[in-house]
Amino acid sequence: MIKQKQNKGFTSKFGFLMATVGSAVGLGNLWSFPYRVGEGGGAAFVFIYIIMVCLVGVIAMIGEFVIGKRSGVNVIDTFGGISKWSKWLGYLGVIVPFLILCYYQVIGGWSIKYMIDYIGGIGVASGAGNVGGMFGTFTQSVDMPVVYLFVFAFVVAIIVLFGVNKGIEKASKILMPALFVCLIIVVIKSLTLPNASEGLLFLFKPDFSKVKGSTILSALGQVFFSMSLGMGINVAYGSYMKDSMNIGKSSVLIGVMDTVIAMLAGMAIFPAVFSFGLEPTAGPGLLFVVLAEVFASMGPIVGRIFGAIFFMLVILAAVTSSIALLEVPVQFIVERFHINRKLASMCVAGIVFGIGAFIAMSFGVKAFQVEGVDLLTLFDSITNKIILPITAASTCLLVGYKVKPKNLMNDLGADTKNKIIIYKIWGFLIRYVTPIGILCVLGIGIYEVFSGQAGFTTIEGKLAIILSAIVLVVFSIIANVIANYLYDKKQKNSLQL
Ligand code: PFF
Repeated sequence: MIKQKQNKGFTSKFGFLMATVGSAVGLGNLWSFPYRVGEGGGAAFVFIYIIMVCLVGVIAMIGEFVIGKRSGVNVIDTFGGISKWSKWLGYLGVIVPFLILCYYQVIGGWSIKYMIDYIGGIGVASGAGNVGGMFGTFTQSVDMPVVYLFVFAFVVAIIVLFGVNKGIEKASKILMPALFVCLIIVVIKSLTLPNASEGLLFLFKPDFSKVKGSTILSALGQVFFSMSLGMGINVAYGSYMKDSMNIGKSSVLIGVMDTVIAMLAGMAIFPAVFSFGLEPTAGPGLLFVVLAEVFASMGPIVGRIFGAIFFMLVILAAVTSSIALLEVPVQFIVERFHINRKLASMCVAGIVFGIGAFIAMSFGVKAFQVEGVDLLTLFDSITNKIILPITAASTCLLVGYKVKPKNLMNDLGADTKNKIIIYKIWGFLIRYVTPIGILCVLGIGIYEVFSGQAGFTTIEGKLAIILSAIVLVVFSIIANVIANYLYDKKQKNSLQL
């Protein structure tokens, strides 16, 4: 089943890097990293986050690239090639990005609304103090969030429809540098505000007395989401890598660039938050509400310009991440069912949009809520709190025990002198440290669900999260069994690891 590498992947190292960094850099960097830094006490969180990127993020990313590059095919067949009993991980690896995309694009749509409002001057005209209200009114309306979602989803589908090198690679090569330039402009503005240094101190001067166990796990969970780990993305993008591309260097570079952009987002947000006397611990509203307040208080012209640039930035980041999320199911459908890529992209994008529309409307329409809570919170909790840690930890264990030292070294491009040491360190981290860390994240995720911190306070709501996750895992295991019976009976473990 595992074919030779198909020649339709990334054509240049730069293009591959921009696409993978594009998948990594997204709302996780601009939206959740800053608010988690705010909640986690500032620099101490940042410090722990960076350690986690090195010990867990880069290590797991190398593992995912190795299996993807060696197989050259979609996520399900890659896992099926490792062992006929690991296919279930592949099914989850396709389902999870699909589910994440359903709500991720809703936030992408909100960003378009914000950008347009700033360009038209409405964003700042509503004045400081009123932006939070504006956010609530907008998200709770029924029609406009769906319209903006449609625009966003349409753009993403068009890029994926053009394929890996003509669509994803080309778009990423333009969008990522554009994102970087926009971010630098906002950082410079933020750093020149009065009292900006307070924000910088918050971000760079650690106070370890504020670190709790939950801070460490929050950092670890953030590393996973931010580096797009455990969702099949890096397996899919790895399958499009050329042989000459170096997995070790690429993974380190992606980890560094993802972290640098998250830090720049922090440098854009916290000096402004402190300068205007707002709360760094505002939580998920930090990006859409607090920052909008900041722009509103910069005055009609300056606020308008910087608000528009900033939300443009958010859109760019969300688009490049969404194309990665869409690519995973599309790649599988194209390869498995031999369907034309354009048709597959449009069909998957259409279904995602349909589900996304319910999610977008669930803020205002009670009938679409579960136990009084919006569907975005439900989807986010099922995927990020429960399933993602399960797939990520299982992938690390599978890769850690299956990949042979010789092959890993080959793929990492390590020189002979350091080979064994590197393999031993990587092997130890991926077999023990990373899975244990991830399982702790799963533990805290389940705890958050039951303690009501995941947004659901009724027992029915909490069970909705847990049971949905169980259903998905069981479904993927049953699919694995059926696939083995029906058409993969004679299949050998064909992936050379
Ligand atoms: N890493 C992205 C972010 O930080 O927003 C989120 C993401 C994108 C997750 C793509 C998964 C993925 F496949």
